[in-house]
Amino acid sequence: MELTDQIKQAAAYIQNKKISEPQIGIILGTGIGKLGDKIQADVIINYEEIPHFPLSTIEFHSGKLIYGNLGGKKVIALQGRFHAYEGYTMQQITFPVRVLKQLGVRELIITNAAGSMNPAMKKGELMVIEDHINLQPGNPLAGKNYNELGSRFPDMSKPYNHSMIQKLSDIAAHMNLTLHKGVYVSVQGPNLETKAEYRYLRMIGADVVGMSTVPEVIVANHSSLPVAAISVITDECDPENLKPVSIADIIETAGKAEVFLTSLIYKYIEEVNF
Ligand code: HPA
Repeated sequence: MELTDQIKQAAAYIQNKKISEPQIGIILGTGIGKLGDKIQADVIINYEEIPHFPLSTIEFHSGKLIYGNLGGKKVIALQGRFHAYEGYTMQQITFPVRVLKQLGVRELIITNAAGSMNPAMKKGELMVIEDHINLQPGNPLAGKNYNELGSRFPDMSKPYNHSMIQKLSDIAAHMNLTLHKGVYVSVQGPNLETKAEYRYLRMIGADVVGMSTVPEVIVANHSSLPVAAISVITDECDPENLKPVSIADIIETAGKAEVFLTSLIYKYIEEVNF
């Protein structure tokens, strides 16, 4: 079946659950599910019910679409996302973004956990992504291009929406919250990096590294869907002083910083007007 038909079927299934005119889509990253719990949910749909949606494989990604009111707006949050290291194709990873666009969301907000190579960006702090480097294998736009979805060669000179970044920065300043700005590099994982790799990633111009987000951002740009992404810094990756880090540590740190991330995004959604 054509991708365009799969998108329409998935969107129709969701709309039939009485989901109308969602304004903002949110993709929640590893260890960052709480924002989903703040939504006054009207509808919750498990991914496995939705036609053509991939299934989550790892237990801390619960795999739910939550629709409801957050800060006075109609939002759809995707709790549980898909990663290349789980073996999904780039098309599968980005399918939910296609469906959000089809459902009519006007903006997309993405969160993730990331390791910092920049000594000024500390564990537990937040960074809004200004630009990225894609080191994941494959590209979600490879293969047939559907002109109704977007152009063959999408521009990536401003992959992250400037006015969303500005608004998030203003709100963070108001809240007295540290919000760095920087470059995110995406790798496939699932292993964390070696010292030599962290040195290399810093050298090519990245501030933080993670295993997600970039495929979704490429598809958001292809779809002309304005997108902003915020990283929670969960570990410090100084190659001269590298300590072992476990995924459990990463999730624990994400959980602690989540309070700040949640209030930043909540305020943003409350204040934004289209
Ligand atoms: N590397 C890759 N992905 C990550 C890291 C990291 O250090 N921390 C959190 N996600």
